[in-house]
Amino acid sequence: MDFSGKVALVTGAANGIGAGLARRLAAAGASVVVADVDDAGGEAVADEVGGVFVHCDVRDPRDSEAAVALAVERFGGLDVAVLNAGIATGFTFDDFDVERYRTVMGINLDGVVYGVHAALPALRARGGGRIVATASMAGLMAMPMDPLYGANKAAVVGLVRGLGPVLAADGITVNAVCPSFADTNIVTGVKDALEAAGMPIMGVDDVVDAFVSVLRSGQPGECWFVQAGRPSAPFTFPNPPGPRTATGERVRFTRDPLTTSDVPEES
Ligand SMILES: NC(=O)c1ccc[n+]([C@@H]2O[C@H](COP(=O)([O-])OP(=O)(O)OC[C@H]3O[C@@H](n4cnc5c(N)ncnc54)[C@H](O)[C@@H]3O)[C@@H](O)[C@H]2O)c1
Repeated sequence: MDFSGKVALVTGAANGIGAGLARRLAAAGASVVVADVDDAGGEAVADEVGGVFVHCDVRDPRDSEAAVALAVERFGGLDVAVLNAGIATGFTFDDFDVERYRTVMGINLDGVVYGVHAALPALRARGGGRIVATASMAGLMAMPMDPLYGANKAAVVGLVRGLGPVLAADGITVNAVCPSFADTNIVTGVKDALEAAGMPIMGVDDVVDAFVSVLRSGQPGECWFVQAGRPSAPFTFPNPPGPRTATGERVRFTRDPLTTSDVPEES
């Protein structure tokens, strides 16, 4: 993808990975809508990149719709939606709190669902585009440190994989980026412990590099891991059990039995 002249919406773009990506996309010629609940940080990033800030709490579907509407109004359309806003959970089942649970699910999962729903009409109006959701390595592997975070990030991975072939029919490529630990506010409270345990912590630029690769060459439904010391690539979900016939052969649908659209071969 050539970013020149493209319009990108990035949620959670006031800080960390989203801010880094907003800077990179703008430097490559894109117009960027910076969406966040951090008004001061978001305004600063928008000013810096020549974009526009919108206060957007991704838990509220109307805020995502307003952010997309702003992209259309200011820049004439939308080509890229990066649904990146997210928080760590900060509690487990030992100190469970329903309100905090709804908050983290509302941001990390509902925020992506509402963002996809809001972006689709504008992307379809352009004849296609790209959606990238920020999941996490916690969506690909067990996360005993924060199982609820693992649950909502795994849900984002499942959403993206299922949506991949559906949206491809409209020329929209949807992907997830699944970073390991990166040096942002989200890891501040655990950074020393992670480093003491020998866990590498990536720079924001390393994660932004992966986003750029995904935006350029991600195929529908792919979920790319991002880890220190190895190139980012699609995770292949090896050997899922999948449906079998009574005699044990793998059932492979080439057509979706409900929608009759093509189903890509699993890797
Ligand atoms: N940093 C890591 O180690 C790491 C690893 C894997 C995945 N991630 C994911 O990367 C994404 C970006 O996080 P980051 O590491 O840059 O952290 P960050 O805290 O620097 O940035 C997150 C941004 O999301 C915004 N935000 C929070 N709640 C919001 C809401 N309700 N609506 C809109 N915006 C909201 C924050 O204001 C902030 O600007 C998150 O989805 C996070 O889960 C981060």
